[in-house]
Amino acid sequence: MNESMTGLKRSHRCAELGAANAGERVTVMGWIQKQRNKGGIIFVDLRDRSGILQIIFEEEECGAENFAKAEKLRSEFVVAVVGNVEKRAGEANASLATGQIEVRAKELRILSEAQTPPFPIEEDSKTKEELRLKYRYLDLRRPDLQKNIILRSKIATSIRAFLAEEGFLEIETPMLTKSTPEGARDYLVPSRVHPGNFYALPQSPQLFKQLLMCSGYDRYFQLAKCFRDEDLRADRQPEFTQVDMELSFVDAEDVMEVNERLIRTVCKEAIGLDVALPLPRMTWKEAMDRFGSDKPDTRFGMELTDVSKIVEGCGFGVFTSALENGGSVRGINAKGQAEMPRKKIDALVDFAKGYGAKGLAYLSVQQDGSYKSSFAKFMTPEELDALVEAMGGEKGDLLFFAADKNKIVWNVLGALRLELAKQMDLIDNGKFNFLWVTEFPLLEYSEEEDRFVAMHHPFTMPVEEDLKLLDTDPGAVRAKAYDIVLNGVELGGGSVRIFQSDVQEKMFEVLGFSRESAYERFGFLLNAFKYGVPPHAGLAYGLDRLVMLLVKAESIREVIAFPKVKDASCLMTDAPNVVDRVQLDELQISVNLTEGE
Ligand code: AMO
Ligand code: AMP
Repeated sequence: MNESMTGLKRSHRCAELGAANAGERVTVMGWIQKQRNKGGIIFVDLRDRSGILQIIFEEEECGAENFAKAEKLRSEFVVAVVGNVEKRAGEANASLATGQIEVRAKELRILSEAQTPPFPIEEDSKTKEELRLKYRYLDLRRPDLQKNIILRSKIATSIRAFLAEEGFLEIETPMLTKSTPEGARDYLVPSRVHPGNFYALPQSPQLFKQLLMCSGYDRYFQLAKCFRDEDLRADRQPEFTQVDMELSFVDAEDVMEVNERLIRTVCKEAIGLDVALPLPRMTWKEAMDRFGSDKPDTRFGMELTDVSKIVEGCGFGVFTSALENGGSVRGINAKGQAEMPRKKIDALVDFAKGYGAKGLAYLSVQQDGSYKSSFAKFMTPEELDALVEAMGGEKGDLLFFAADKNKIVWNVLGALRLELAKQMDLIDNGKFNFLWVTEFPLLEYSEEEDRFVAMHHPFTMPVEEDLKLLDTDPGAVRAKAYDIVLNGVELGGGSVRIFQSDVQEKMFEVLGFSRESAYERFGFLLNAFKYGVPPHAGLAYGLDRLVMLLVKAESIREVIAFPKVKDASCLMTDAPNVVDRVQLDELQISVNLTEGE
């Protein structure tokens, strides 16, 4: 039987009480964490989002009726308790924020009884994630998730306050819209009024925020829901939230400057972290050469070394043919790993193959100075010595080499570097290494589509001095684009936008869009530009990723209240799901599953 709370008003959250409240009469409400009946005395831990409070029931204090109710209490019952705050008689409990006090109950009301939950509501749950996600509303009661979700709210508030102070306006943009060019697949929504037509859910507010600049709003931001139908990973969800912004009459420097202060403010307010400004910067080329990644984790070294010049003309065909094909040979030095067992090395070779390598050559420097290697037989002792020297190889080191097109070599060694760092425990978890990566290539050649595609999006401005290369060497054109990276994760990205129609048309031409198809897709933006467009630039962060990294969560799911799993389904609601025939008929949609689906 549920009792009513009529006549009672909560006076405090559980963990808001402390020694200073001793002697006060309080009313607290929450969930039973646990009840221990010691005969004449019942101890209850009461939990709410602030924490846990100990309550004591004794018959002479609370009366027989309340005591009988207290005897019935079980985990997750929702109760209201009126009582007196007292200093703990026994030893203080240091593990509780409220450890110095307890509440001696006078009145108890059971507001809601509860079935036994399918898993215990406790910190560091050992319960399988699938079960927790099915009962997400229970999972969300756990203190660690509550801490994340509360911190997320704090971060959002801090971002809003900072940006408002800097003159940004919070403006919403539509969810039912046209496809935006961010490169993932769209989620489509059928239109009932226009049968056979579909809205796309936004992959980002990109086009709308540029239109807002055309409309004179000058500085815009939004905590925007974005939707991308792409393969999920630990740091990706099909719907996620961007901290999205756009600024007028600015260049890249202005965007980076205001965002550095935003980052510093948010880190300080959210987790008390002092971030030193300015943040380090690196060009894309440097990031790739040194770390094999456009989002380098700079918390450890083990950088790549280009040994192409050293192995030029050597006897090892794998190396020389990669060079002849315009590629490179690069290596990394796993310090002190010379004794790595063969099995583990073979596993790393397979790992490298997973990233597109045809093989992975290795060489270890033994304690007696001799080499053990998969390719030593193809090279002279002098060639090997020169190679080891170039790699800074010392006794006890294990060197790995990849030879291929640059893109593959970077990809393979970049991934191998991270994998080795994990195995060798090189990563200091206490560090927060922010980094700007700048001067991304504007275009990337897509073998699949046999044309150049925009690396960021087609509205990104080329670096002026590279404009002339658009015709002759499009792959070499650098973009006024910048990413912000934290501990090897891409936290955000943005760019200066093209605002001159001749440059934009040139860009579409290079991308292989006809004038017609460009207008068909983005006509509203191109037309808007004809009516007076300010130079503008912007950036968007993944809010989920920012929170994930600041709370050191393993996965983005731990900072989203109701996340989806790998196959983009929601285990709690069972979305996506079939819909009624009637709904489909109204939309004039017939489902045409191929067999086996
Ligand atoms: P971009 O595509 O780089 O840029 O996205 C910006 C940031 O959004 C986050 N993000 C994601 N987070 C979780 N799950 C996903 N599936 C996901 N995809 C992206 C990342 C990323 O850095 N309109 C441009 C920004 C601009 O140019 O202003 C854009 O969307 O943290
Ligand atoms: P093989 O002559 O094919 O036995 O190769 C000798 C060594 O070179 C083996 O350790 C291979 O894994 C390695 N290897 C093969 N292809 C490459 C490559 N593209 N880059 C680096 N090492 C390679």
